[in-house]
Amino acid sequence: MGINYAEKIPNNVDLSDNRTLQRALERWQPQYQAWWRKLGPEGLMDNDVYLRTATSVDAKGWASYGMVKMPDYRWGIFLAEPVADRRIGFGDHRGEPAWQEVPGEHRATLRRLIVTQGDTEPASVEQQRRLGLCCPSLYDLRNLLQVNVEEGRHLWAMVYLLHAHFGRDGREEAEELLERHSGDPDKPRILGTFNEPIDDWLSFFCFTFFTDRDGKFQLMSLAESGFDPLSRTCRFMLTEEAHHMFVGDTGIGRIIKRTAEVIAELGTDDTVRLRDHGVIDLPLLQRYVNFWFSSSLDLFGNDISTNAANYFANGIKGRPDEGRFEDHDCANALYGVERPAADGKGLETEDVPLRNAMNAVTRSAYIKDCEIGVKRWNRLLRRAGIDAEITLPSPRFRRTIGPWAGLHFDPVGKAMTAAEWNGRHDEFLPSEGDRAYVTSLMRRVVDPGKIAGWIAPPDRGVNAQPLDYEYVRL
Ligand SMILES: [Fe+2]
Ligand SMILES: [Fe+2]
Repeated sequence: MGINYAEKIPNNVDLSDNRTLQRALERWQPQYQAWWRKLGPEGLMDNDVYLRTATSVDAKGWASYGMVKMPDYRWGIFLAEPVADRRIGFGDHRGEPAWQEVPGEHRATLRRLIVTQGDTEPASVEQQRRLGLCCPSLYDLRNLLQVNVEEGRHLWAMVYLLHAHFGRDGREEAEELLERHSGDPDKPRILGTFNEPIDDWLSFFCFTFFTDRDGKFQLMSLAESGFDPLSRTCRFMLTEEAHHMFVGDTGIGRIIKRTAEVIAELGTDDTVRLRDHGVIDLPLLQRYVNFWFSSSLDLFGNDISTNAANYFANGIKGRPDEGRFEDHDCANALYGVERPAADGKGLETEDVPLRNAMNAVTRSAYIKDCEIGVKRWNRLLRRAGIDAEITLPSPRFRRTIGPWAGLHFDPVGKAMTAAEWNGRHDEFLPSEGDRAYVTSLMRRVVDPGKIAGWIAPPDRGVNAQPLDYEYVRL
């Protein structure tokens, strides 16, 4: 199914057959563009950028590359191909035909889920808007902007669903998606992580590794939804999301590679000496990992959740890769969830109805996925002969949601008193000094082929272009 680019809003949903919907979306479009110009990547609206755009949703056509000025990017509505006779795959409605329209009784729930997902997309663009002013290379700048335009498209994906299936409420929600802003004290974004500033590239790489990966798991769960338009939308978004995590994964890998080179050169991993040489020492990287991993874990919600149970029971939101599981009903199964022990010391495992533990199930799949990337980074260190490792902190560390919220644990999960925590906080999380140091490294490098001193060059360019290709014309 090709994408119709002749229309104002490129789409593969036959938008022109529904004039009312088309007009409503065409009214939202200039508001979106005004938002993009105001809160999209700063200082880069008039430059040509080497971006990929989807021209069809199949494997061949979805990534075609060319020079585009970002405000002219063809944001559109692309749904993955329908699956013939698709059925709901889990919960109480299992085996019934998937819904093409929103069932009345699930309307409020689905709207809330779509709005919450939609809100994260422009939020991340807002969080990242100043990174172009301190990029380590043109290659990285281009990747940032690719991520940004695709998050913009993900907003379009959710706004389409709101407009097409939720009537007037949906149109109002679509407007509000452009009215809340990341970090705005009066109208913040819905989820905490999406109000954290991302002013340096180390945070950006951590965000794309850890927080975009949360996005991947949310999209995988929604791709299982019995509401078929949502499923199809999320399936196509997942193809784009993979690149965002690639940016984070390779970004941190390249930082590690560069640091390892300097450790070998100097024959020491002394933090002060490494900082004198302008690279990111591994303990500092670890503190950023601790920060973003723990923040992202909160995005999965409470370990025990009646909402999650209802989503599952009603066929609204499944588990990532639902097809891999044997039991798609889960009404009688139990799942062990860790919580603080009743005597106040240590922890215990409580068996809860599996449906209520779906957030914990998804979170544990997410943690496994994070571990794969961390292993790759540690392989780089081992190969460089460095006896150090990056580790994921314990899921109990620095949580604000779930059974561990408000309690204090060190990164290996050992309980601490509040006083101990306050005294040792800077060992675990980026300190003022760390942040100031990282900020001092953030100097803009934009000569084609040149790269900042704190990060190694990538293994290869974008779409088989050379590394010194002019990915952004400044
Ligand atoms: Fe996204
Ligand atoms: Fe993303």
